[in-house]
Amino acid sequence: MALRNLVDNALKYSPADSSVWVDWNAGNSLVSIRVRDQGAGIPDAEKKLIFRKFVRGSAAEAANVKGSGVGLAMVRHIVDAHGGEITLASKPGQGSTFVMVLPGVRS
Ligand SMILES: Nc1ncnc2c1ncn2[C@@H]1O[C@H](COP(=O)(O)OP(=O)(O)O)[C@@H](O)[C@H]1O
Ligand SMILES: [Mg+2]
Repeated sequence: MALRNLVDNALKYSPADSSVWVDWNAGNSLVSIRVRDQGAGIPDAEKKLIFRKFVRGSAAEAANVKGSGVGLAMVRHIVDAHGGEITLASKPGQGSTFVMVLPGVRS
């Protein structure tokens, strides 16, 4: 569900012909899942706000795509519930990378 939301966003806020990558790494005690796109990117000023409920950012405005602004709030909620963390690296015009880091089964 959380992964699905990140992939949906990556596709929604990217040009139609660009790529979205999903990869994951399972270590001894952590599983990290990374979703990377070549889309609009996210300005620093929005990086915290977009994880709040009902907040939509400049990429949403620019792409003129529908949404309710709850996706990332839900993702954060799910990740928190698993005792994990979500990080975001992005620059406007240079795409975005979201990483969910979750405690692994052997932790
Ligand atoms: N992959 C992404 N690339 C650029 N902007 C993004 C990306 N994912 C999320 N955003 C920004 O974060 C905002 C909040 O995302 P989300 O909570 O999923 O709501 P929604 O997609 O319904 O707008 C979006 O409106 C958009 O501005
Ligand atoms: Mg969304």
